[in-house]
Amino acid sequence: MTTPQTLLQRIDTVQQEALASLNSLCNVEEVEEWRVAHLGRRGALTLALRDIGGLPAEDRPEAGTAGNRAKLALEDGLGQKLETLRESEAARLASENRLDVTLPGRPMLQGRLHPTSQIVRQICDAFASMGFQVVEGPEIEWDHYNFELLNIPRDHPARDMWNTLWIDQRNEAGEYPMLLRTHTSPMQARVMESRQPPVRVIVPGKCYRYEATDATHEWHFYQVEGLAVDDGITFADLKGTLYEFARMLFGAERKVRFRCDYFPFVEPGVDMSIDCFACNGDRAGCRICRDTGWIEIMGAGMVHPRVLEGVGYDSSKYTGFAFGLGPERIAMLKYGIDDIRHFYANDLRFLRQF
Ligand code: PHE
Repeated sequence: MTTPQTLLQRIDTVQQEALASLNSLCNVEEVEEWRVAHLGRRGALTLALRDIGGLPAEDRPEAGTAGNRAKLALEDGLGQKLETLRESEAARLASENRLDVTLPGRPMLQGRLHPTSQIVRQICDAFASMGFQVVEGPEIEWDHYNFELLNIPRDHPARDMWNTLWIDQRNEAGEYPMLLRTHTSPMQARVMESRQPPVRVIVPGKCYRYEATDATHEWHFYQVEGLAVDDGITFADLKGTLYEFARMLFGAERKVRFRCDYFPFVEPGVDMSIDCFACNGDRAGCRICRDTGWIEIMGAGMVHPRVLEGVGYDSSKYTGFAFGLGPERIAMLKYGIDDIRHFYANDLRFLRQF
């Protein structure tokens, strides 16, 4: 039977125990369980308060006051507990390994191909579409390949056409047999040495020359070499192939012009020009063709019989053509770049334009 004393006692015990157990709760879910257990519809304190109605009328006010005080104490404890939990959660989020999924993403840095690489790829793609295979060779080369096998013997004045960077290492004869290749032509000999005709290769790569730099000269630059050797190749094949290439790179309406030129490893040797795409033949005041109407874009020629013999080919059976062009020069023409030194100055303001 409920007496005022036992009820007061009960309210007091519920309050003590409830407040004591509040401390050990670690999250909002546990706090909710605690709330239901004490203050919920069937909670311990709620049931005790309900029993106040069963007391004699004169005992009710005292029990009611005690009950209200207990209820306020529990609600107060609950509020404080929730506040503490919120604070420690905020602290956890602010700590080192926080992950704020509401932050905007960081933009990805997007790279791009260097203008030289873009042109080298365009050139290789054009020739690949005509059946040429892309191969690459060493930038440190033997004199043997860079000069000797290309019909440029030691002490021959034709060597003056290539200002050479030699590797500082002598052989037993006291000569310097290694150099930074001055052109990609040594790959003509390397390729022919390693395979039999038919040969159709395109060779992109870096070259080096002992050069004072200015707007049109760099000491390092790229070349793209081409070589085709087979039974019955003629100068008409050279013209047809290079004409097609010029149209692929500079537009279907381009015309080409061949003029005699000298390179020791071809005979006959030519340089090839395209009609100026900037002024379309108007010439007057054209900065690209310098009023000539023509732009020189590469050297070429029929492979010299001595080069064929040098790699062990039968020059009475096989003939071929070779050509070499400078992608930086092509890029300068195509994009109207006025100084070759821009290419390797690593200035992003220049590079971002392509
Ligand atoms: N290797 C020559 C140069 O660097 C270009 C060339 C290549 C000419 C092939 C003819 C044939 O000037």
